[in-house]
This record gives sequence, structure tokens and C-alpha cells, in this order.
Amino acid sequence: MASINFTPDKLIHHIEDGSRLIEVCDEISVSLAFGCTEGSCGVCELTVLDGKSNLSKITDEEKNYLLPEDLEEGMRLGCQLKIRQGDVSLTWEKSKKS
Ligand code: FES
Repeated sequence: MASINFTPDKLIHHIEDGSRLIEVCDEISVSLAFGCTEGSCGVCELTVLDGKSNLSKITDEEKNYLLPEDLEEGMRLGCQLKIRQGDVSLTWEKSKKS
């Protein structure tokens, strides 16, 4: 069992290990938005506050879209993420590019 803390929505949701974030967000009401769902638009950009090591590996799409220093700070593309196990805490309020 894994869990996601959607901090902007003050919501913690329990999920099966290995769930795709985009599918979880389809099922529940959270304010994280998705666009292309393929890792090329950046609409789903978020920051991992806790549990980086519980997430799937950084994809080529994320390496292409995000800067290395952004990845280092915990930014990811939500459409690319799977929660492998354990607890993960996410935010996206300040992660949008201006
Ligand atoms: S929805 Fe477009 S990059 Fe994730």
C-alpha cells in the first residue's frame, strides 16, 4: 500500500503500489492539471516534497522537458510518475513556469 499527500488540496489518498499518478488523479478530485499526458507540455509539472525514492525513475521525457537543476530540486512531470511504494508528498502551487 502506498499513499500520496496532495498538499495543495490537503488530501492524502491511499493507493496500490505501482499506481500511475495520472490514473489516481482521474479517479479523485485534485487540482493538479494534465495536458498532453505524454511528457511534452509541462502542465503537470510538480515538486516532490517527500518520498522521491518511492517514485518511478525519471523518464527521457522529463529529462528533455525539465532542467537538471529542477530535477535535482524534486520537480517531476506528473503524467510520467508511478508511485512504486510508500508515502509520497507532492505540491504544484509554485512549480509552474511563468
Ligand atoms: S501532461 Fe503534458 S507534460 Fe504531463
